[in-house]
Amino acid sequence: MKGGGGSGPAGRREHMLGVFDSGIGGLTVVRHLRRLLPAWDIVYFGDTARVPYGTKSDATVRRFAGEAARFLTQFGVSHLVVACNTVSAVALRHLTREFQELPVAGVIQPGAEAAVEATRSGRIGVIGTRATIASGAYEHAIAVAAHRAGKKARVHTRPCPLLVPLAEEGLAGSRAAREVLRDYLAPLRAKRIDTLILGCTHYPPFKPAIRSVLGRRVTLIDSGEATARRLARSLKRNSNPAPRGRGSLTCYVSDIPRQFEAIGRRFLGSRLGRVWLVPQDDLPWFQRPPIQGSP
Ligand code: DGL
Repeated sequence: MKGGGGSGPAGRREHMLGVFDSGIGGLTVVRHLRRLLPAWDIVYFGDTARVPYGTKSDATVRRFAGEAARFLTQFGVSHLVVACNTVSAVALRHLTREFQELPVAGVIQPGAEAAVEATRSGRIGVIGTRATIASGAYEHAIAVAAHRAGKKARVHTRPCPLLVPLAEEGLAGSRAAREVLRDYLAPLRAKRIDTLILGCTHYPPFKPAIRSVLGRRVTLIDSGEATARRLARSLKRNSNPAPRGRGSLTCYVSDIPRQFEAIGRRFLGSRLGRVWLVPQDDLPWFQRPPIQGSP
């Protein structure tokens, strides 16, 4: 792997982002990171063996998130980017506590702030996984951002659990996706929202279908893009000297790299290159001692 500048303290690379998601969705965040921070190296982990996260309990998501983050720290990354709304909603505080020496960026707050900035009527819709919506993280972040901006905001949420499997299958542009979205978005349409947060990094490929249901007047907020913008701003301010050249992108998955390679380019907007399967022994969950009393 190409190094991004020198090594920092304790073997850490100075310009290397460790980015993870349950699967392919986080590549929509990588797409913007590569555009805004072209010289930074990125190591990506997609937990394709265990996607989706959004239908699982908070405790399970926290455990998976800790394991993914620990895997990425082996590369000496300088920052962790949680390219997953579900993990950001239920596990960000845990990650920040566990990886105190690393800056950890989540996607909820930047998405909420961008929506508050964009809304004119104050009626904001949020779609996401069941876990993200149930956490109330967006309502909270929007309330804080609206208070700061001196604006009023009313939030209408809707879980859309079928969208992640459709995205993972490369079916975001299909008739099936449009039908499902018509159903999911009907209550938000009825509330006459003027801004919709795509509160899942798997959702940006559904933008054309969402627009066809809600119309062009509704502003779509891509939480991953808002996060990449904010991170790029702060990293550019703080990296002195700025890295130069073209940074590398190396992707790891926990299962079936070929499917990820085939569909990933649509999420990334460019060729992915080779995707590596994480050797099972390298994944922390295989290193756990056997449960006592098990055969
Ligand atoms: N892409 C993720 C998110 O932003 C996770 C989706 C899932 O695994 O359910 O929430």
